[in-house]
Amino acid sequence: MKIMVVGGGGREHAIIKKLLENKSVEKIYCLPGNGGIAADAECVPIGSTDIPAIVDFAAKAGIDYAVVAQDDPLVLGCVDELNKIGVPCFGPNAKAAIIEGSKVFSKNFMKKYGIPTADYEVFTDAAEALKYLETAKIPTVVKADGPALGKGAIVALTREDAYEAVREIMEDKKFGASGDKIVIEEFMTGPEVTVLSFTDGETVIPMVPSTDHKRAHDGDKGLNTGGMGTVAPSPYYTPDVAKKAMETIILPTVKAMKAEGRPFKGCLYFGLMITPEGPKVVEYNCRFGDPETQVVLPLLKSDLLDIMLATTNGGLDKVPVEFSEGAACCVIMASNGYPEKYEKGYEITIPEELKEHVYVAGAKLDSGKLVTSGGRVLGAVAVSDCLENAVAESYSYCEKIHFGNAYYRRDIGKKALDFLKNEVK
Ligand code: AMP
Ligand code: GLY
Repeated sequence: MKIMVVGGGGREHAIIKKLLENKSVEKIYCLPGNGGIAADAECVPIGSTDIPAIVDFAAKAGIDYAVVAQDDPLVLGCVDELNKIGVPCFGPNAKAAIIEGSKVFSKNFMKKYGIPTADYEVFTDAAEALKYLETAKIPTVVKADGPALGKGAIVALTREDAYEAVREIMEDKKFGASGDKIVIEEFMTGPEVTVLSFTDGETVIPMVPSTDHKRAHDGDKGLNTGGMGTVAPSPYYTPDVAKKAMETIILPTVKAMKAEGRPFKGCLYFGLMITPEGPKVVEYNCRFGDPETQVVLPLLKSDLLDIMLATTNGGLDKVPVEFSEGAACCVIMASNGYPEKYEKGYEITIPEELKEHVYVAGAKLDSGKLVTSGGRVLGAVAVSDCLENAVAESYSYCEKIHFGNAYYRRDIGKKALDFLKNEVK
C-alpha cells in the first residue's frame, strides 16, 4: 500500500512511525515532511495547503490512502478533492472539519445539542462587542471565529485586555477574515485534558487521555505556544470524569454531527476543561493534536492503519483499539525565543540509540546534516511503566540531544505527578 501523509511536524512523524509497523505499508510519502521525517518517509516539497498540487501528486504517484493530518488542508477541503479522484482518506471532509474551522459553528452546535461548554455571545460588530464588554464578567475569553495558528483565543484577565483583544481581532484584523466574527465566552477554571478519539461517524472510540503544556515557560508562564510537552494518561481524566464526558460530550457530539448531515470521520479532538461542574468543551479540533499524538500513539498497541481504514470505510466497532497500561511523556525541545523570534540553522545531534524516541518537527536537511529550521524542533518521547519514570526518562533523552539555542521546559508532567501524589494520600 502506498500512503501519503499531509503535514510536516512531530505529529506527522509519530503517525508515520506507527503506520510503518503495518507490513502492508510499502511506501510512505510526506507532503512536505521535514528533515527528520525524511529518515522514515519520502518527503515531497508540496505545501500542505496547496490542494491542487497535493491532488495532482496523489494521482501521479498512485496513492492508495491519504492521511490528512493538519487542520488547514482539512478545513480547506483536501479530503473532498482527494475523494473526487478516488483516493480514500483519513480525516473529515470540509463539511465536518468546520467543527474546528469555525468557533461560531462549534459554539452554536454545542448550544443546540446541550453539550457542556462555556456560555458565550457571538459578535459581528466591534462596537457591539465593546459595549457588551462594559458589563461582562471578567476574566473573559475572546476568540476569533476562524483559524488563527492556535493564537485566536485570548484569555483577558482585565477589562482593558478584553477591549484590546476585540480591537486587535476585529478592527486591526490581526488574523485577517478569521476575525470578521468573534465569540466572547465565560472564563472557566480547572485542569485541561485532551481526548483524541477515532470515529467513523457512528462509533467513537476515545484514545488514552493526555494533557498538553501550552505556555512557553515553567510554571505555565509566558506566551501560548503550539504545545511544549505532553503526558499520557492524563490523571485528571478519572473514571468518573471519563464516564461523564462520554455521556454528555463525546457520544452526543458524534451523534449530533451525523444529525447535522456532517458525519465526522477521522480523529476528533476534544479539548476539555475539568471544571468544578464537570467536564466542559474548550475546543474541538478536526485532527490529531500536536504534541498530544506524540504520547498517545506510542501507547497504542493495536494497528493504526487498520483503525484508520475503519474510520474511512465504517466498521470501527469491529476493529481492536487497545492501549498499553504504561505512561508516556513528550518534552518538546524548541529554539530559544519561540513562539516569537528565534535563531535557527543549528546542527542537531541525536545519539543513534535515541532516534526511535524522537519525533522531529522544525528541522531540515542541509548538505546531509539535520539543522534546526523552526520553533518547536523535536519531541523527546519516553514510554515507561508509570508517569514518573516516563517523565524522568524523557528528560534524560533531552540531556543527550544537542543543538544550538536549544530550550525546553523543565516541568513537563510536574502538576500531573503532584495531582497523582495527592490522590494516593
Ligand atoms: P483554544 O484555542 O480555544 O483552545 O484556547 C486556547 C487556550 O486558552 C486553551 O487551551 C485554554 O487554556 C484557554 N481557554 C480557552 N477558552 C477558555 C475558557 N472559556 N476559559 C478558560 N480558559 C480558556
Ligand atoms: N496541542 C494543541 C493542538 O494540537 O491544537
